[in-house]
This record gives sequence, C-alpha cells and structure tokens, in this order.
Amino acid sequence: MRIVVLEDADAVAAFGANHIIEGIHRKPEITLGLATGSSPVRLYQNLIQVNQEHKVSFQKVSTFNLDEYLGLDGEHPQSYRYFMNEQLFNHIDIDLNNTHVPNGAAKNPLSACEEYEQAIRNRGGIEIQLLGIGRNGHIGFNEPTSSLSSRTRVKTLTKDTVDANRRFFAEGEFQPRLSLTMGISTIMEAQEILLIATGAGKAEAIKNTIEGPVSAFCPASILQMHAKVVVVIDKAAAQELKDVSFYEYIEQEQQRLLAAVKGE
Ligand code: F6R
Repeated sequence: MRIVVLEDADAVAAFGANHIIEGIHRKPEITLGLATGSSPVRLYQNLIQVNQEHKVSFQKVSTFNLDEYLGLDGEHPQSYRYFMNEQLFNHIDIDLNNTHVPNGAAKNPLSACEEYEQAIRNRGGIEIQLLGIGRNGHIGFNEPTSSLSSRTRVKTLTKDTVDANRRFFAEGEFQPRLSLTMGISTIMEAQEILLIATGAGKAEAIKNTIEGPVSAFCPASILQMHAKVVVVIDKAAAQELKDVSFYEYIEQEQQRLLAAVKGE
C-alpha cells in the first residue's frame, strides 16, 4: 500500500485529481470507477477546472460508479446519478452515454446488478477506481461483514450509514435503506485503487484499513491484498496511525527513486 499523508483536504483533492489526470493522459480512453459522498467533491471540482482549462479531455473516458440507492431514479436529487451529473459530468466534456451508475429504479434489481457487472467486463474492466471510506470501514456500500468475495448486488445499509447520510435528505423524506453496490471482489479487480479520506471522523477506519487485520468487519482492509493501492489522507484522518513518520519516509524514498529513474 502506498500511503500519502498530506496537510489538509485541499491537498488530498489536488493529489487525487492529479492522479486521475495522469491516468487519462496515459490512456485517453481509460475506464474510471467513481464514488459519490462528500469525500470526492473537491477532487471533482479540480477535475472540472483542469478540463475547462483544456488541459485534460474526458471525451473518450468511460466511468462506472460504485453504487446507487435502490428506489431512487436518476432524476431524484438524492440519487447518485443526479449527484454525479451535478458534481462532475454536466461540467466536463464527457459523453454521458459513457457514464454508468447502477440503476436504482430497475424493475428487477437483481438482474440490473448482473448487467452492471457485464457492462464493466464489456469495457475491459476498471483501470483506476476512486474510493471514499465509511466511518465503519465500508467501501461502496459493502458494509461490515460483507463477503470479501462479493460481486455487484443489493445490500442493506447499516443504521450508521443511514444516519451519516441523513444530512442529504429533507425531514420526512423517503430515505432508502437498500442499495445496489459493486461488490468487494468487483472493486478488487480494478487495476489500480485510489482511496481518499479526510477528517478525524475517518481516523479509526483508516487505522483499521492500513494497520488492522484483513477482516470483513472492516471491508476496506481487503485493500491490503491489492497490488496497486494508493491511500491519500490528510493529517486528521492519519491521527490514529501508529507510525506516520515511517509512511512519510517511505514516500520520500519512493519519490527519490522515481526521480533518479527519470534522471532528474
Ligand atoms: C459512495 C460510497 C461510499 C462513500 C462513503 C464515504 O459512492 O461508495 O462508500 O465513499 O460512505 O462517504 P463520505 O465521503 O460522504 O464521507
């Protein structure tokens, strides 16, 4: 695991955006896995800015989002499709036909999950998967005790997740308890994973992800088994880690090595 500890949320957003932009420059027709929630919002703002400055193009990029609420269609302001259009897609030069979010309004959500898996396969798989992390260690909507081998499916949200997301819903408004989410195995098949987290509220989940045992009780801990993961966090989210200075030292050495290889 590559662990990058930065000063604050702005630095995390800039690093994350840059990582994705480098991926698009390497391969303009890249397939990205994307996330919703508050964590990626600033990162998306960075992507929008760089796209509007014509320094990167999304014209050939395809995207697959991690999850969607079951029971909300894409027109619903709290749906993740709506979120993605508002926060990113409507402001960049991406072809909306190349953007995919699980269908929360599907008549048959079970077959919608299988079709989503097939659509990812048809595109040749996800190259860079962006992840946030829940306070309980969930990735996508794979809540604690989710099978570490799971595929895209319907999942019940924990009370903790429902409570954490209540802030987005008006009082008395229907708030879904079920979701369609990529499975942990689906996420692990991405060639590369970029996990971002900021704030003290994520510190325990980050500690369990990086230093804890691999356990379905902290689904993000499975990332220890992935060959290419970068975890980008601010100081607040890093505060429970045992040995931040060691992680910083590794990162410095890695940068030195890369510079030497490039002949800088
Ligand atoms: C969202 C998603 C979730 C969030 C997580 C953190 O698509 O898959 O796993 O990444 O709940 O949410 P925020 O960023 O709002 O703290």
